[in-house]
Amino acid sequence: MPTNAVIETILSRSAAKYYDPTATLSDDQIRDLVRIGTSAPTSFHLQNWRFIAVRTPEAKARLRPIAWNQPAITDAAVTFIIIGQLADASTVPERLAAVVEAGIMPAHLVPEWEIPARGLYDGQPQRQRDEAVRSATFGTAAIIYAARSLGLGSTPMIGFDAEAVHR
Ligand SMILES: Cc1cc2nc3c(=O)[nH]c(=O)nc-3n(C[C@H](O)[C@H](O)[C@H](O)COP(=O)(O)O)c2cc1C
Repeated sequence: MPTNAVIETILSRSAAKYYDPTATLSDDQIRDLVRIGTSAPTSFHLQNWRFIAVRTPEAKARLRPIAWNQPAITDAAVTFIIIGQLADASTVPERLAAVVEAGIMPAHLVPEWEIPARGLYDGQPQRQRDEAVRSATFGTAAIIYAARSLGLGSTPMIGFDAEAVHR
């Protein structure tokens, strides 16, 4: 099997079970992780994700009881709430604006992306939701592996009350 730093990072990751509750991450470190996460691909560049960094003891204490009381929620330096947004093709022009402005994409291509995106997602709630989960997962995976490469542990979690976290 070939190996290099990226492969080594991928292969050496595991889900952390215990966290040092005294460890912290700075705002810049958290911002860097999210910036890396949002370099992941999304369908039509929809960027249909949001990352909420829960980091104060008070906020984590609110989250823990609605996340199966898992100690990692409060022990980890930061607990991200990962949000996938329903794929919405009407956001394509807004999402591509910066790419057009930077001269990377010619403006005439914008409708050429929006039209097929509408064909794919408009009136298709199941597909919109699938895309939300897919996008959030790609972004999260990038954060998990970037964290690993920086020597930081992580644990993906489904053990929470989605309704309560949503509220
Ligand atoms: C979608 C998903 C949800 C998970 N939820 C939890 C969780 O709520 N609590 C937890 O301790 N581990 C959770 N895990 C971690 C898995 O138990 C762990 O990834 C799996 O046992 C494989 O071990 P590894 O990640 O060390 O290779 C979750 C993993 C995934 C991918």
